[in-house]
Amino acid sequence: MSFDIAQRRADFPSLARVVAGHPAAYFDGPGGTQVPRHVIAAISSYYETSNANAHGPFVTSVETDAIVWETREAMAAFLGASSPETISFGANMTSLAFALSRAIARSIRAGDEVLVTDLDHEANRGPWLALAEHGAIVHSVKMTTGGQIDMDDFQSKLSDKTKLVAVGYSSNSLGTVNDLPRFREMSRSVGAWLLVDAVHYAPHFPMNASELDPDFLLCSAYKFYGPHIGVLYCREGLLDSLKTDKLRPQLDDAPYRIETGTLNFAALNGVKAAVEYIASFGDGDTLRERVLDGMAIIHRYEDELARHFYTELAKMSHVTIYGQPFTAGLRAPTVSFTVDGVNSEEVAKLLGEQGLFVWGGHFYALRVYESLRLEDKGGLVRVGISLYNTREEVERLLEAIRGLQR
Ligand SMILES: Cc1ncc(COP(=O)(O)O)c(C=O)c1O
Repeated sequence: MSFDIAQRRADFPSLARVVAGHPAAYFDGPGGTQVPRHVIAAISSYYETSNANAHGPFVTSVETDAIVWETREAMAAFLGASSPETISFGANMTSLAFALSRAIARSIRAGDEVLVTDLDHEANRGPWLALAEHGAIVHSVKMTTGGQIDMDDFQSKLSDKTKLVAVGYSSNSLGTVNDLPRFREMSRSVGAWLLVDAVHYAPHFPMNASELDPDFLLCSAYKFYGPHIGVLYCREGLLDSLKTDKLRPQLDDAPYRIETGTLNFAALNGVKAAVEYIASFGDGDTLRERVLDGMAIIHRYEDELARHFYTELAKMSHVTIYGQPFTAGLRAPTVSFTVDGVNSEEVAKLLGEQGLFVWGGHFYALRVYESLRLEDKGGLVRVGISLYNTREEVERLLEAIRGLQR
Protein backbone atom coordinates (compact mmCIF):
# COMPACT_ATOMS: atom_id res chain seq x y z
CA MET A 1 0.00 0.00 0.00
CA SER A 2 1.36 3.45 -0.83
CA PHE A 3 1.38 6.60 1.24
CA ASP A 4 -0.45 9.31 -0.64
CA ILE A 5 0.18 12.53 1.26
CA ALA A 6 -2.68 14.49 -0.37
CA GLN A 7 -5.10 11.73 0.57
CA ARG A 8 -3.69 11.52 4.08
CA ARG A 9 -3.99 15.27 4.60
CA ALA A 10 -7.63 15.14 3.56
CA ASP A 11 -8.18 12.88 6.59
CA PHE A 12 -7.33 15.73 9.00
CA PRO A 13 -10.00 18.48 9.16
CA SER A 14 -7.79 20.77 11.27
CA LEU A 15 -5.25 21.11 8.44
CA ALA A 16 -7.72 23.46 6.74
CA ARG A 17 -7.11 26.09 9.42
CA VAL A 18 -5.77 29.45 8.25
CA VAL A 19 -3.78 31.86 10.46
CA ALA A 20 -3.56 35.50 9.32
CA GLY A 21 -3.88 34.39 5.73
CA HIS A 22 -1.34 31.52 6.07
CA PRO A 23 -2.37 27.86 6.02
CA ALA A 24 -1.58 26.35 9.42
CA ALA A 25 1.46 24.03 9.35
CA TYR A 26 1.52 21.80 12.41
CA PHE A 27 5.09 21.11 13.48
CA ASP A 28 3.94 20.67 17.09
CA GLY A 29 3.41 16.89 16.87
CA PRO A 30 5.75 16.12 19.82
CA GLY A 31 3.33 18.17 21.95
CA GLY A 32 0.33 16.37 20.42
CA THR A 33 -0.66 15.42 16.89
CA GLN A 34 -3.74 16.41 14.92
CA VAL A 35 -6.61 13.94 14.80
CA PRO A 36 -8.04 12.30 11.65
CA ARG A 37 -11.79 12.34 11.05
CA HIS A 38 -11.95 8.53 11.61
CA VAL A 39 -10.91 9.11 15.20
CA ILE A 40 -13.22 12.10 15.66
CA ALA A 41 -16.12 10.02 14.26
CA ALA A 42 -15.35 7.13 16.60
CA ILE A 43 -15.44 9.44 19.62
CA SER A 44 -18.76 11.02 18.68
CA SER A 45 -20.33 7.74 17.58
CA TYR A 46 -19.73 6.34 21.06
CA TYR A 47 -21.86 9.13 22.54
CA GLU A 48 -24.47 8.70 19.81
CA THR A 49 -24.96 4.96 20.25
CA SER A 50 -23.25 3.27 23.19
CA ASN A 51 -22.85 5.77 26.01
CA ALA A 52 -23.07 4.01 29.40
CA ASN A 53 -20.96 3.03 32.36
CA ALA A 54 -19.12 -0.29 32.23
CA HIS A 55 -20.02 -3.77 33.53
CA GLY A 56 -23.82 -3.35 33.30
CA PRO A 57 -26.40 -5.88 32.04
CA PHE A 58 -27.95 -3.75 29.28
CA VAL A 59 -26.88 -3.34 25.70
CA THR A 60 -25.08 0.03 25.81
CA SER A 61 -23.03 -1.08 28.79
CA VAL A 62 -22.21 -4.41 27.15
CA GLU A 63 -21.10 -2.44 24.08
CA THR A 64 -18.97 -0.19 26.28
CA ASP A 65 -17.21 -3.22 27.77
CA ALA A 66 -16.61 -4.54 24.26
CA ILE A 67 -15.14 -1.20 23.14
CA VAL A 68 -12.75 -1.08 26.07
CA TRP A 69 -11.62 -4.65 25.45
CA GLU A 70 -11.21 -4.09 21.70
CA THR A 71 -9.12 -1.00 22.50
CA ARG A 72 -6.87 -3.13 24.70
CA GLU A 73 -6.55 -5.58 21.80
CA ALA A 74 -5.76 -2.74 19.40
CA MET A 75 -3.13 -1.29 21.74
CA ALA A 76 -1.61 -4.76 22.24
CA ALA A 77 -1.33 -4.97 18.44
CA PHE A 78 0.14 -1.47 18.28
CA LEU A 79 2.77 -2.17 20.92
CA GLY A 80 3.43 -5.80 20.00
CA ALA A 81 2.27 -6.89 23.46
CA SER A 82 1.52 -10.52 24.22
CA SER A 83 -2.10 -10.02 25.33
CA PRO A 84 -4.79 -7.39 25.99
CA GLU A 85 -4.44 -8.13 29.71
CA THR A 86 -1.06 -6.34 29.64
CA ILE A 87 -2.72 -3.04 28.61
CA SER A 88 -4.19 -0.59 31.16
CA PHE A 89 -5.58 2.88 30.54
CA GLY A 90 -5.56 6.18 32.37
CA ALA A 91 -6.03 9.92 31.90
CA ASN A 92 -2.52 10.45 30.51
CA MET A 93 0.98 9.04 30.82
CA THR A 94 1.89 11.20 33.83
CA SER A 95 -1.14 10.13 35.89
CA LEU A 96 -0.50 6.45 35.15
CA ALA A 97 3.17 6.85 36.06
CA PHE A 98 2.24 8.42 39.41
CA ALA A 99 -0.31 5.62 40.06
CA LEU A 100 2.42 3.08 39.31
CA SER A 101 4.86 4.97 41.51
CA ARG A 102 2.46 4.77 44.46
CA ALA A 103 2.16 1.02 43.87
CA ILE A 104 5.91 0.49 43.56
CA ALA A 105 6.44 2.62 46.68
CA ARG A 106 4.67 -0.06 48.73
CA SER A 107 7.37 -2.57 47.81
CA ILE A 108 10.33 -0.23 48.31
CA ARG A 109 12.71 -1.09 51.14
CA ALA A 110 15.19 1.34 52.65
CA GLY A 111 18.34 1.32 50.55
CA ASP A 112 16.65 0.26 47.30
CA GLU A 113 17.99 2.32 44.42
CA VAL A 114 16.23 3.84 41.44
CA LEU A 115 17.82 5.23 38.26
CA VAL A 116 16.30 8.00 36.16
CA THR A 117 18.07 10.00 33.46
CA ASP A 118 18.82 13.64 32.71
CA LEU A 119 17.60 13.12 29.13
CA ASP A 120 14.05 12.35 30.20
CA HIS A 121 10.81 14.29 30.31
CA GLU A 122 9.85 15.12 33.92
CA ALA A 123 6.92 12.69 33.63
CA ASN A 124 9.52 9.92 33.60
CA ARG A 125 11.45 11.42 36.49
CA GLY A 126 9.02 13.00 38.98
CA PRO A 127 7.07 9.79 39.77
CA TRP A 128 10.33 7.89 40.43
CA LEU A 129 12.04 10.77 42.27
CA ALA A 130 9.00 10.58 44.59
CA LEU A 131 10.13 7.08 45.62
CA ALA A 132 12.81 8.84 47.72
CA GLU A 133 9.98 9.76 50.13
CA HIS A 134 9.64 6.00 50.75
CA GLY A 135 13.30 5.33 51.43
CA ALA A 136 14.65 4.77 47.93
CA ILE A 137 17.89 6.36 46.82
CA VAL A 138 17.31 7.91 43.41
CA HIS A 139 20.21 8.63 41.04
CA SER A 140 19.94 10.60 37.84
CA VAL A 141 22.18 9.36 35.02
CA LYS A 142 23.94 12.19 33.18
CA MET A 143 23.49 13.04 29.54
CA THR A 144 26.27 13.99 27.14
CA THR A 145 26.35 17.38 25.41
CA GLY A 146 25.51 15.48 22.20
CA GLY A 147 22.16 14.49 23.73
CA GLN A 148 22.93 10.85 24.58
CA ILE A 149 22.61 9.07 27.90
CA ASP A 150 26.10 8.73 29.38
CA MET A 151 26.41 4.93 29.43
CA ASP A 152 29.54 4.97 31.60
CA ASP A 153 27.60 6.98 34.20
CA PHE A 154 24.70 4.55 33.88
CA GLN A 155 27.00 1.57 34.36
CA SER A 156 28.61 3.18 37.41
CA LYS A 157 25.23 3.88 39.05
CA LEU A 158 23.69 0.48 38.29
CA SER A 159 24.16 -2.14 41.02
CA ASP A 160 22.42 -5.07 42.62
CA LYS A 161 20.66 -2.51 44.84
CA THR A 162 18.92 -1.04 41.76
CA LYS A 163 15.23 -1.87 41.86
CA LEU A 164 13.98 0.25 38.98
CA VAL A 165 15.52 1.81 35.87
CA ALA A 166 13.27 4.44 34.22
CA VAL A 167 14.42 5.49 30.78
CA GLY A 168 12.89 7.08 27.71
CA TYR A 169 12.80 5.27 24.38
CA SER A 170 13.22 8.58 22.57
CA SER A 171 13.85 12.11 23.81
CA ASN A 172 10.93 14.49 23.22
CA SER A 173 13.43 17.33 23.37
CA LEU A 174 16.32 16.19 21.15
CA GLY A 175 14.95 13.22 19.23
CA THR A 176 17.63 10.83 20.55
CA VAL A 177 16.65 7.17 20.36
CA ASN A 178 18.16 5.19 23.22
CA ASP A 179 19.55 1.69 22.90
CA LEU A 180 16.74 0.05 24.86
CA PRO A 181 17.82 -3.58 24.30
CA ARG A 182 21.10 -2.63 26.01
CA PHE A 183 19.23 -1.03 28.92
CA ARG A 184 17.07 -4.15 29.10
CA GLU A 185 20.10 -6.42 29.26
CA MET A 186 21.95 -4.32 31.82
CA SER A 187 18.90 -3.80 34.05
CA ARG A 188 18.05 -7.50 33.97
CA SER A 189 21.63 -8.43 34.84
CA VAL A 190 21.14 -6.80 38.27
CA GLY A 191 17.50 -7.89 38.68
CA ALA A 192 16.06 -4.36 38.28
CA TRP A 193 12.74 -3.54 36.65
CA LEU A 194 13.00 -1.63 33.38
CA LEU A 195 10.37 1.05 32.82
CA VAL A 196 10.25 2.65 29.38
CA ASP A 197 8.69 6.01 28.52
CA ALA A 198 7.72 5.39 24.90
CA VAL A 199 5.63 8.56 24.55
CA HIS A 200 7.91 10.15 21.97
CA TYR A 201 8.96 6.90 20.28
CA ALA A 202 5.48 5.44 19.70
CA PRO A 203 4.35 7.93 17.00
CA HIS A 204 7.44 7.42 14.87
CA PHE A 205 8.61 3.81 14.99
CA PRO A 206 7.11 0.32 14.89
CA MET A 207 7.25 -1.06 18.40
CA ASN A 208 7.73 -4.61 19.64
CA ALA A 209 7.08 -4.87 23.37
CA SER A 210 7.31 -8.67 23.40
CA GLU A 211 10.79 -8.59 21.89
CA LEU A 212 12.04 -5.65 23.94
CA ASP A 213 10.44 -7.20 27.04
CA PRO A 214 10.39 -4.21 29.41
CA ASP A 215 8.63 -4.60 32.74
CA PHE A 216 6.60 -1.45 32.20
CA LEU A 217 6.10 0.76 29.17
CA LEU A 218 4.03 3.92 28.91
CA CYS A 219 2.73 5.93 26.01
CA SER A 220 0.10 8.52 25.20
CA ALA A 221 -2.46 8.18 22.40
CA TYR A 222 -2.67 11.92 21.68
CA LYS A 223 0.89 11.76 20.33
CA PHE A 224 -0.13 9.21 17.67
CA TYR A 225 -3.29 10.76 16.21
CA GLY A 226 -5.61 9.69 19.01
CA PRO A 227 -7.33 11.44 21.91
CA HIS A 228 -5.89 12.32 25.33
CA ILE A 229 -5.48 8.87 26.91
CA GLY A 230 -2.48 7.34 28.66
CA VAL A 231 -1.54 3.70 28.08
CA LEU A 232 0.41 1.43 30.40
CA TYR A 233 1.87 -1.91 29.34
CA CYS A 234 2.86 -4.20 32.24
CA ARG A 235 4.72 -7.44 31.66
CA GLU A 236 2.34 -10.38 32.04
CA GLY A 237 1.71 -11.20 35.71
CA LEU A 238 3.59 -8.18 37.07
CA LEU A 239 0.69 -5.81 37.72
CA ASP A 240 -1.11 -8.53 39.72
CA SER A 241 1.80 -8.54 42.16
CA LEU A 242 1.73 -4.78 42.84
CA LYS A 243 -0.21 -3.09 45.61
CA THR A 244 -2.01 -0.42 43.60
CA ASP A 245 -4.46 2.21 44.88
CA LYS A 246 -7.72 0.34 44.63
CA LEU A 247 -11.34 0.60 45.72
CA ARG A 248 -12.87 -2.53 47.30
CA PRO A 249 -15.33 -3.31 44.46
CA GLN A 250 -12.74 -2.65 41.76
CA LEU A 251 -11.61 -5.72 39.79
CA ASP A 252 -8.45 -7.18 41.27
CA ASP A 253 -6.63 -8.50 38.26
CA ALA A 254 -4.59 -6.95 35.50
CA PRO A 255 -5.37 -4.88 33.52
CA TYR A 256 -8.06 -3.39 35.83
CA ARG A 257 -5.97 -3.28 38.98
CA ILE A 258 -4.51 0.15 38.28
CA GLU A 259 -7.57 1.67 36.57
CA THR A 260 -9.35 3.74 39.21
CA GLY A 261 -12.76 5.25 38.54
CA THR A 262 -14.61 5.48 35.26
CA LEU A 263 -12.49 5.49 32.12
CA ASN A 264 -13.05 7.89 29.23
CA PHE A 265 -14.88 5.36 27.05
CA ALA A 266 -15.54 7.71 24.13
CA ALA A 267 -11.84 8.57 23.97
CA LEU A 268 -10.93 4.88 24.19
CA ASN A 269 -13.07 4.26 21.12
CA GLY A 270 -10.95 6.99 19.53
CA VAL A 271 -7.72 5.24 20.56
CA LYS A 272 -8.89 2.06 18.81
CA ALA A 273 -9.71 4.14 15.74
CA ALA A 274 -6.24 5.77 15.83
CA VAL A 275 -4.56 2.35 15.78
CA GLU A 276 -6.85 1.25 12.94
CA TYR A 277 -6.03 4.48 11.10
CA ILE A 278 -2.30 3.77 11.28
CA ALA A 279 -2.95 0.15 10.26
CA SER A 280 -4.95 1.35 7.25
CA PHE A 281 -1.68 2.47 5.55
CA GLY A 282 -0.18 -1.00 5.82
CA ASP A 283 -0.64 -4.46 4.35
CA GLY A 284 -1.03 -7.72 6.23
CA ASP A 285 -3.51 -10.32 7.38
CA THR A 286 -3.65 -9.25 11.02
CA LEU A 287 -4.02 -5.88 12.72
CA ARG A 288 -0.50 -6.34 14.13
CA GLU A 289 0.98 -6.88 10.66
CA ARG A 290 -0.84 -3.87 9.25
CA VAL A 291 0.25 -1.69 12.19
CA LEU A 292 3.89 -2.72 11.72
CA ASP A 293 3.72 -2.00 8.01
CA GLY A 294 1.81 1.26 8.56
CA MET A 295 4.33 2.47 11.16
CA ALA A 296 7.24 1.55 8.88
CA ILE A 297 5.65 3.66 6.12
CA ILE A 298 5.09 6.59 8.51
CA HIS A 299 8.67 6.29 9.75
CA ARG A 300 10.16 6.37 6.26
CA TYR A 301 8.04 9.36 5.22
CA GLU A 302 8.78 11.42 8.34
CA ASP A 303 12.45 10.46 8.39
CA GLU A 304 13.04 11.72 4.85
CA LEU A 305 11.34 15.06 5.55
CA ALA A 306 13.15 15.52 8.85
CA ARG A 307 16.55 14.75 7.28
CA HIS A 308 15.90 17.37 4.63
CA PHE A 309 14.88 19.91 7.26
CA TYR A 310 17.96 19.10 9.35
CA THR A 311 20.34 19.33 6.38
CA GLU A 312 19.04 22.72 5.27
CA LEU A 313 18.88 24.06 8.82
CA ALA A 314 22.49 23.01 9.41
CA LYS A 315 23.54 25.36 6.58
CA MET A 316 22.25 28.43 8.45
CA SER A 317 25.03 30.22 10.30
CA HIS A 318 22.62 31.92 12.74
CA VAL A 319 21.20 28.56 13.90
CA THR A 320 22.65 26.05 16.39
CA ILE A 321 21.18 22.55 16.27
CA TYR A 322 21.18 20.38 19.41
CA GLY A 323 21.20 16.58 19.61
CA GLN A 324 22.73 14.00 17.33
CA PRO A 325 22.74 14.35 13.55
CA PHE A 326 20.71 11.92 11.44
CA THR A 327 23.97 10.45 10.13
CA ALA A 328 24.91 9.27 13.65
CA GLY A 329 22.17 6.65 13.91
CA LEU A 330 18.49 6.14 14.54
CA ARG A 331 16.68 9.24 15.78
CA ALA A 332 13.15 10.61 15.86
CA PRO A 333 12.05 13.25 13.31
CA THR A 334 12.25 15.95 15.98
CA VAL A 335 14.80 18.71 15.49
CA SER A 336 15.64 21.29 18.15
CA PHE A 337 17.72 24.41 17.74
CA THR A 338 18.37 27.96 18.86
CA VAL A 339 18.58 31.10 16.74
CA ASP A 340 21.39 33.57 17.50
CA GLY A 341 20.10 36.65 19.24
CA VAL A 342 16.44 35.59 19.37
CA ASN A 343 14.92 33.95 22.43
CA SER A 344 13.45 30.53 21.53
CA GLU A 345 10.02 31.36 22.91
CA GLU A 346 10.06 34.50 20.79
CA VAL A 347 11.06 32.42 17.72
CA ALA A 348 8.08 30.14 18.31
CA LYS A 349 5.79 33.16 18.66
CA LEU A 350 7.08 34.79 15.47
CA LEU A 351 6.72 31.57 13.49
CA GLY A 352 3.28 30.96 14.99
CA GLU A 353 2.14 34.31 13.64
CA GLN A 354 2.96 32.99 10.18
CA GLY A 355 0.93 29.83 10.76
CA LEU A 356 4.04 27.75 11.52
CA PHE A 357 3.28 25.95 14.78
CA VAL A 358 6.44 25.01 16.68
CA TRP A 359 7.22 24.95 20.38
CA GLY A 360 9.81 27.06 22.17
CA GLY A 361 10.98 26.28 25.72
CA HIS A 362 11.91 23.19 27.73
CA PHE A 363 8.97 20.89 26.86
CA TYR A 364 9.13 19.49 30.42
CA ALA A 365 12.55 17.98 29.64
CA LEU A 366 13.91 20.23 32.35
CA ARG A 367 17.22 18.46 32.93
CA VAL A 368 18.03 18.71 29.22
CA TYR A 369 17.35 22.44 29.38
CA GLU A 370 19.50 22.79 32.49
CA SER A 371 22.30 20.46 31.34
CA LEU A 372 22.67 22.30 28.02
CA ARG A 373 22.44 25.67 29.85
CA LEU A 374 19.58 26.93 27.75
CA GLU A 375 17.94 29.11 30.40
CA ASP A 376 19.03 32.45 28.95
CA LYS A 377 18.17 31.36 25.41
CA GLY A 378 14.55 30.64 26.33
CA GLY A 379 15.20 26.92 25.81
CA LEU A 380 15.01 25.30 22.41
CA VAL A 381 12.85 25.75 19.34
CA ARG A 382 11.40 22.31 18.57
CA VAL A 383 10.18 21.21 15.16
CA GLY A 384 8.40 17.87 15.01
CA ILE A 385 7.55 16.12 11.77
CA SER A 386 4.31 14.16 11.68
CA LEU A 387 2.74 12.08 8.93
CA TYR A 388 0.69 14.99 7.59
CA ASN A 389 3.59 17.44 7.12
CA THR A 390 4.71 18.19 3.57
CA ARG A 391 7.88 19.22 1.78
CA GLU A 392 6.23 22.59 0.98
CA GLU A 393 5.53 23.21 4.66
CA VAL A 394 9.14 22.38 5.48
CA GLU A 395 10.38 24.80 2.79
CA ARG A 396 8.09 27.51 4.20
CA LEU A 397 9.44 26.90 7.67
CA LEU A 398 13.06 26.98 6.47
CA GLU A 399 12.43 30.25 4.66
CA ALA A 400 10.86 31.78 7.78
CA ILE A 401 13.85 30.67 9.90
CA ARG A 402 16.25 32.20 7.34
CA GLY A 403 14.27 35.41 7.76
CA LEU A 404 15.05 35.45 11.49
CA GLN A 405 18.70 36.30 10.85
CA ARG A 406 19.43 39.61 12.47
C1 LIG B 1 8.57 11.90 26.32
C2 LIG B 1 7.33 12.25 27.07
N1 LIG B 1 7.03 11.58 28.18
C3 LIG B 1 5.93 11.84 28.90
C4 LIG B 1 5.05 12.83 28.51
C5 LIG B 1 3.83 13.08 29.34
O1 LIG B 1 2.71 12.58 28.69
P1 LIG B 1 1.24 12.94 29.18
O2 LIG B 1 0.95 14.32 28.70
O3 LIG B 1 0.38 11.89 28.55
O4 LIG B 1 1.21 12.85 30.66
C6 LIG B 1 5.32 13.58 27.38
C7 LIG B 1 4.43 14.67 26.95
O5 LIG B 1 4.80 15.56 26.23
C8 LIG B 1 6.48 13.27 26.62
O6 LIG B 1 6.79 13.95 25.51
